[in-house]
Amino acid sequence: MIPAEKIIVALDTQDPVICTDLLHSLSSSKVWVKIGMELFYAEGPRVIHEAKALGLNVFLDLKLHDIPQTVASALKALSRLPIDMINVHAAGGLEMMQRSYEVLAGLNKRPLLIAVTQLTSTSEEQMQREQRISGSIQDSVLHYAHLAHQAHFDGVVCSPHEIKLIKENIGSTFLTVTPGIRPAGVESHDQKRITTPREALALGTDFMVIGRPITGAKNPREALETILQGN
Ligand code: C5P
Repeated sequence: MIPAEKIIVALDTQDPVICTDLLHSLSSSKVWVKIGMELFYAEGPRVIHEAKALGLNVFLDLKLHDIPQTVASALKALSRLPIDMINVHAAGGLEMMQRSYEVLAGLNKRPLLIAVTQLTSTSEEQMQREQRISGSIQDSVLHYAHLAHQAHFDGVVCSPHEIKLIKENIGSTFLTVTPGIRPAGVESHDQKRITTPREALALGTDFMVIGRPITGAKNPREALETILQGN
């Protein structure tokens, strides 16, 4: 069995009708929903209120990346929304992450603050050639995770294959949020290094992000229930 509280369903749509249908099919399930750039830029804060009204926890996945002052100000504005998790790019730097934490730390109740390390769409060869970072992807992910931890972040987005490395080096309570999840027998789409929900759970994930296997199913609630059964 997979705990529903560990599943974050990625609402990657800009269609308000599809979004509302999905939210209703997920309500009462205890899963989280992820509202990313596509949906937030199309529909704005309204969808966050809609999800919260249905009792769903919200991860606002905007991957902020700018100078420290701008990111801190953006977080201040976004923190007025009823969100439970938010993220920034670790590549924005330690100072940017520290300023991000300071803004949220001043709130009565703050959302979990998560850093994006290396995107799972970035290959090692591409990272070395384009970002001029030598070493392995794992080294870079761990380095960014250390910086995020230093800035008092709650955790990082990473591949399920990096959970062990991060937990062993930083600590078991440092959260890992892992996309690239595919139930056995389901199409992998553009995800390259995938694990099943059961494998991700065994690897120690705190939150698994699952999109198309649920949102693209004929009956999303049924697809979710099948995943929760550990299939
Ligand atoms: O449909 P699928 O399960 O592939 O959706 C995964 C979600 O996780 C998408 O919203 C994607 O943008 C996001 N994501 C990812 N890899 C990352 C960071 C975020 O797939 N490294």
